[in-house]
Amino acid sequence: MRKPEVIAVCGGQWGDEGKGKIIDYLAQEADVVIRAQGGDNAGHTVVNPFGKFGLHLIPAGIFNPFTENIIGAGVALNPKSLMEEMENLSQHGVPLDNLKISPKAHLVFDYHEELDKLQEQLKGNGKIGTTGRGIGPCYMDKAERVGLRAELLTGDPYILLDEMSKALKSKRDALVGRNLAAAVDSYLESEYGGGPGFISNEDIGRMVVVSADLIPDSFHAEYYEELILNAHRLLAPIITDTDEIVHQRLNKNSRILIEGAHGTLLDLDHGTYPMVTSSSPTVAGLLLGSGIPPKYLTRSIGVFKAYQTRVGAGGMPTELKDAQGELIRQKGHEFGTTTGRPRRVGYFDTLAWEYAMKMNGFSEIALTRLDILSGVGDLKICYEYEHKGEILESFPTDSRILGECSARYLENDKKEGWDEDISGVRRFEDLPLNAQNYIGSTIAKPKFVGVGEKREDLIIIK
Ligand code: IMP
Repeated sequence: MRKPEVIAVCGGQWGDEGKGKIIDYLAQEADVVIRAQGGDNAGHTVVNPFGKFGLHLIPAGIFNPFTENIIGAGVALNPKSLMEEMENLSQHGVPLDNLKISPKAHLVFDYHEELDKLQEQLKGNGKIGTTGRGIGPCYMDKAERVGLRAELLTGDPYILLDEMSKALKSKRDALVGRNLAAAVDSYLESEYGGGPGFISNEDIGRMVVVSADLIPDSFHAEYYEELILNAHRLLAPIITDTDEIVHQRLNKNSRILIEGAHGTLLDLDHGTYPMVTSSSPTVAGLLLGSGIPPKYLTRSIGVFKAYQTRVGAGGMPTELKDAQGELIRQKGHEFGTTTGRPRRVGYFDTLAWEYAMKMNGFSEIALTRLDILSGVGDLKICYEYEHKGEILESFPTDSRILGECSARYLENDKKEGWDEDISGVRRFEDLPLNAQNYIGSTIAKPKFVGVGEKREDLIIIK
């Protein structure tokens, strides 16, 4: 008898590994695809017969009319972005009847984005380089237990606005307090050179007024009235008991894909903290965010790019700051799907790979974007780091230490490149020998090798 199959597809590096393509491929035979965590800070590029899409919130199974697509409980859901994404897919003829939203997903609004930007500003040199999508502040609200969940969109929209109004009051107070403290500091600085001074009640009163005036409109619930009414109209009908859908499917022995966003090294608990995202993109996090009990997991696919990329700040020992790095960036269009920022590019890092394997216990590997390395010259693979004169053979998760590490390459770590276009190759043995050797040297023994952007540009190794 066929058993339910639950497959988690998880990023093994710093995100942007090409998970969208693997999910799009596997979704052709999936009954359900659930997006488990993260928000529109993620971007999955998918190229299939409908066209080329950058998906941010909608699961990549949306292109298969027989697949149910769920935005899961662990997702930070920006209703404005979701409605835009739905509109864009609709315009390209993609049916959306098979899209559902968990009532437990937390909502992200413009004020979360403002707070995200503000927090980054305050960090100065310690900036994370977030996507600015308000994801951290949304998950902060969730952990503080003051978040607004998708379920609120199904009821009277004015109740949601009322809840939002209460939530925003404390955020405004905090902002006024912060602005006020800054205003007092600058007053003392200008009047007394920063030393102890006297501020009259009248001055303080004036500063409070100025501080309150500096609060952006997005910190007032009225700003959201139109958005909430639209979201209520368009999204409420698809917010439904998705746990029930999933559990019925598990009983019917269906195939369920859990779609991860970002990557293991950005995991809040296990990534290169604090230069991480605010959700849990590891396999365990995908089970949590999708609400699927771990006992059902049958396969976990770790997706790794054939080289390394990272967006935002934080250590990246194999980073290439030379012409070859630029060539790979240009060939691979390594610019963020969400922010357009150039991605940092580097050689494949087996220490990071080993760490991701350890934390996730992947049952299979997909090595993606091998085609991008055609014609970029000879390559290197990193097996050890140097840290203050010491050799490290395992990945340090302390972000400060990682930032002080550099990749150490020995003669054997150099790999000859290849020039052939490999996008038409469908069997491992038809790859140029140097490409075969390169794959062998990454340690990752892949089940899938991505050789082009289209769905069918994939080698499946039996
Ligand atoms: P946040 O997720 O916007 O808070 O950003 C935190 C860190 O995660 C930053 O370094 C971002 O560049 C990075 N990040 C978030 N999402 C992605 C992604 O989908 N791909 C690559 N990096 C990401």
